Amino acid sequence: MVAGEAMKNDQAEKRVVELRKEIEYHNYQYYVKNDPVISDFEFDQLLKELETLEKQFPDLITPDSPTQRVGGEPLSEFQTVMHKVAMLSLDNTYNYDELREFDKRVKKKIDVHEYVVEPKIDGASVALWYGKGMFLRGATRGDGVRGDDITANLKTIRSIPLHVQSGRLQTFEARGEVYFPISGFKELNTAQEKEGGQGFANPRNAAAGSLRLLDPRIVASRPLDIFVYYLSYSEQIFQTHAEAISALREAGFRVNPLIKTVSDIEGVIQYCQELEEKREDLDYEIDGVVVKVNALAQQDELGSTIKHPRWAIAFKFAAKQATTILKDIGVQVGRTGRLTPVAVLEPVQVGGVMVSRATLHNFDELKRKDIRIGDTVLVERSGDVIPQVVKAIAEKRTGGEKTLRVPKICPICHTPVVRKAGEVAINCPNRMCPARLKWRLRHYASRDAMDIEHLGESTIDKLIDAGLVDNIADLYRLIVSDVMRLEGFKEKSAENLIASITQSTQQSLSRLIYGLGIRHVGKYAAQLLAREYPSIDALAVVSAEELKTIFGLGEKTAEAIASFFATEEHRQLIAALEDLGVSTERKIVVETLPLAGKKFVFTGGLSAMSRSDASEHVKERGGLVINSVSKDLDFLVVGENPGSKLAKAEKLGITILTEEEFLKLLK
Ligand code: IVH
Repeated sequence: MVAGEAMKNDQAEKRVVELRKEIEYHNYQYYVKNDPVISDFEFDQLLKELETLEKQFPDLITPDSPTQRVGGEPLSEFQTVMHKVAMLSLDNTYNYDELREFDKRVKKKIDVHEYVVEPKIDGASVALWYGKGMFLRGATRGDGVRGDDITANLKTIRSIPLHVQSGRLQTFEARGEVYFPISGFKELNTAQEKEGGQGFANPRNAAAGSLRLLDPRIVASRPLDIFVYYLSYSEQIFQTHAEAISALREAGFRVNPLIKTVSDIEGVIQYCQELEEKREDLDYEIDGVVVKVNALAQQDELGSTIKHPRWAIAFKFAAKQATTILKDIGVQVGRTGRLTPVAVLEPVQVGGVMVSRATLHNFDELKRKDIRIGDTVLVERSGDVIPQVVKAIAEKRTGGEKTLRVPKICPICHTPVVRKAGEVAINCPNRMCPARLKWRLRHYASRDAMDIEHLGESTIDKLIDAGLVDNIADLYRLIVSDVMRLEGFKEKSAENLIASITQSTQQSLSRLIYGLGIRHVGKYAAQLLAREYPSIDALAVVSAEELKTIFGLGEKTAEAIASFFATEEHRQLIAALEDLGVSTERKIVVETLPLAGKKFVFTGGLSAMSRSDASEHVKERGGLVINSVSKDLDFLVVGENPGSKLAKAEKLGITILTEEEFLKLLK
């Protein structure tokens, strides 16, 4: 359309329909198939075009438009809804003999030929109701009869189709498990803890907690995902569960790739063994295997008790839990000054990993759970995070156990602690507390920040404990003979450390901004800022109001940045860094860099460096690393065992580089 020319309503409608179809297709390729066919940029363009048209022609907005995934205003509460079909739970077993007994029970009634075996996803179960192919309503399990209407939150999960793609399913109910990927869970917890907040205990709580948020915009910012595993109602008739699962997959749902059909109970048991071994490699938590009779007529014949179906059973893996003695409770001071009790344990194996420390979260919880030094405690490991103490086993007490007193002073700098009204957290208010300084320096020296190679955690501790470093700037004042005084350092290692510190003076502006540890400023925000402002000095004088206008920067972040630079101590730090030769300016205009504007995609494993290092090299040279192969890609870098991207790139005639050629290009 020519700019300025008004589009007619029917033209607009046609385009809107086209766009929606296209966007949902790319959504599906990206979130369900994990195989995008256009770049993020192109996708955003399509979405923007649709948004613009819908703004111009609001009558054309429908609830299943991709623009409606993130709903408007927060809710004040959830509506209660009756489930179309009661959400039963599953009978559990913990050993293979019980599985064989289940098989016997089933065989008494029917001549079973096949079982379907599936990972038991550890998240929050939901029911999704579709009418005429449109996603109409989604609900939590609740008590099985009534649940909460969480449609707005579920719409934010991109792998839930707002409209089924095609095929047999039109009016139906699907069940699935919403889960929090482990990688995303770790990130969320780190971010929340950095803010001085409380992380979730495990990915399941994070999933369930996120679904219960009243503001869909916050839900949308979390990487929730879903596996759909059951067709609980359908107008269409199917013969088997496996067929129903295929229909769900064809309709555009995300179905677990490890679902399998086996011919007898020994096949089930073998699957359980194999899956337990794979358990640690998955990016989602599973707590067992669900076994289902495949033939739907046989399922009907077996029926259900009031609690659970007789045609299915859950084999639960041994919990990643163990009991041990709580030898002591230490107190840790975090980056924001927050004090956390830490359990010192008699070492014990938990789910195959030796554990000697566990988190106790906070002092209120310690009191509430009445956990005492000397107690026998139950320890749990989940979601790959620090293990936690679940509870004390009170029956095992001998009388000699001691309760920990809530500290009144910081264990590190002895400053009296503070507790803000209404908050659980106890904080050391001393900004110069060595414990906090250690965190600040660790962050500053970390790989994503200033990447100071020889400045690891223990060296930082030694430097601070020896009184050689009181703030970030002091790093640049160190000389070789200072470092040689530290335990474990000789001339060569001291020189190496000083050399890597000196090298860091030339790091990029975005790394420096990130390294300063400004609240809410992650890597991405730091890059935005470095693109917007040519130097730290330029950034330091910008008002919160102006910062808020930067696209992609949140309000809280804008305020945190302004307040950081308003603090005298921080101004002094910047001035000192400049005096000591740390570059605080953006270095080269991006356009003049050797790979300026060139787009790269990687496929297969690289041997000389990690994918993220390779991306970093490209970015440093002005290039762009994108996800998917399309005709405007410049280079596909092919490592070992390349994926389908190689064939696609060959078809499009894109320049293909071996790893060796790529390294040459970098040089
Ligand atoms: S089937 C009527 N399949 O486990 C049968 N459930 O303890 C419906 N779950 O409430 C359940 N993965 O939240 C089924 N592959 C799977 C599952 C699964 C996880 C959850 C679900 C259910 C609970 C039962």
